[in-house]
Amino acid sequence: MFFSHAIIEKLKKLPTPYYYYDTDIFELTLQRAIKASEKVGGKIHYALKANCQDKLLQILSTYHIGSDCVSSGEIKKALQNNILPENIVFAGVGKTDEEITYAISQKIFCLNIESIQEMEVVNEIAGKLNTVADVALRINPNVDAYTHKFITTGLTENKFGINASDLTIVLEKLPQMAHLKLIGLHFHIGSQIMDMSSFKNLCLKVNEIQRWMEERGIVLKHLNMGGGLGVDYVHPDKNLFPDFESYFAVFEKFLERRPYQLLHFELGRSLVAQCGVLVTKVLFHKTSGSKHFLIVDSGMNHLLRPALYEAYHKIENISKYLETPDELYDVCGPICETTDYFGKNVLLPHTERGDFIAILSAGAYGEVMASNYNLRGFPNIYFSNEI
Ligand code: LLP
Repeated sequence: MFFSHAIIEKLKKLPTPYYYYDTDIFELTLQRAIKASEKVGGKIHYALKANCQDKLLQILSTYHIGSDCVSSGEIKKALQNNILPENIVFAGVGKTDEEITYAISQKIFCLNIESIQEMEVVNEIAGKLNTVADVALRINPNVDAYTHKFITTGLTENKFGINASDLTIVLEKLPQMAHLKLIGLHFHIGSQIMDMSSFKNLCLKVNEIQRWMEERGIVLKHLNMGGGLGVDYVHPDKNLFPDFESYFAVFEKFLERRPYQLLHFELGRSLVAQCGVLVTKVLFHKTSGSKHFLIVDSGMNHLLRPALYEAYHKIENISKYLETPDELYDVCGPICETTDYFGKNVLLPHTERGDFIAILSAGAYGEVMASNYNLRGFPNIYFSNEI
C-alpha cells in the first residue's frame, strides 16, 4: 500500500473526488533533482504545464528554480508565485502576438522560437516595443524518445521546433533581425522517457549542431535540453523518486558543454507525478458476463491520461487496504464515453459501493488537464500539510 495507515484514515474523511498532494514527497523530489543537477552545473526550469497549483509553485519558488512556460497564462502564474522573470523561459509552437508582447515586456530570460515565421514576428514585435528580445532557437533534432507516439516531440514528423535542415535559412535571415539576440538553443524530444539512450542520442545531435553553428561564427551562451525524464507508474511505492542521477549523468558524460555556457533542463512530470493522487469513491459495482465494473465518481474529466494515451496508473482500494487483492475489476468513470476508465483488469480486494479508490502517480498532467465535460465539475484539492 502506497499510504500509511494514518494518512488513509485522513483521506477517507475527505469529500471525493479530489486530488491530494503530499508536499513532503514534492519537496524531497525537488531536493534530489536539484542535488543531481548541480553535479552537471545545470539549472532546472520546472515545466509549469505538468501542474500549476499555486501551493506547489510557492514551495518551488523557495528553491530558486526557474520555470518553463508555454502561454502568457503560465508566465503570469509563475510571476504571481514569486518566480523571477529572469528565471522564466517561454516556449510553445503557437504564441499569439499578445503573448509575445507580454513576454518581451516582462523581460523574461528568453523566448524559444519554434519556426522561421515566428522569428520574423518576434523581431517585428520587439521592434515595435523598441527593444531587443533574447531568443533561443528550438530545434527539432529528429531523435526518437522511444515513448508513446502522442508524447513524442523531437521527430521530423512532429510539429515542434525548427527542422535542423532549415538552420542555413535561419542563419541567413538572422543578421536582418535587428531586434533579436540569439542566446542559445532549445531541445525537447518527448515525455515519460525511461531509456537513457534517447538522452545520449540527443546530446550527440546537439554536439553536432553546436559545432556546425560555431563554424559559422555563432556563440551560444545557453543550451536548454528540455525535460522528459519518466517516472515509475507501475511501482510508485518502490521507486518514489525518479532516477535523477542517471539522467543528469548522461548530459555530464555526452554533452560537449562549453565552459561559458548555461545549461538548462525543463523537468515537469518527474518533479510532481508521484506527489499527487486522485481519490474517488465507488458509486456502483456491476457485472457484464465475466466482467466486473466499478463505476466511480471521477473519470477522464479529472484524469485524462488513461483515455488519451492508454496510460497505466496503479490503483488501490484504500478502504480495504488490509485485505488481500483477489478480484479483477475494470475501474470506470461516470462519463458517457467508452474510453472513460482508469484501469482494466485491476487486481483489488473485494470492493463495494462507498469504498475509496486511489489512482496513484497523478500529480503530473492530471489536474491541469481536467475538464468540466458532462458538467460534472472539477475535483477538490487537498494538501498533506493542511489536512
Ligand atoms: N519542455 C517542453 C518544451 C515540453 O513540451 C514539455 C512537455 C516539457 C518541457 C516537460 O516534459 P516532462 O519533463 O514533463 O516530460 N500530457 C502528457 C505529457 C505532455 C508533455 C508535453 N510537453 C502526459 O500526460 O503524459
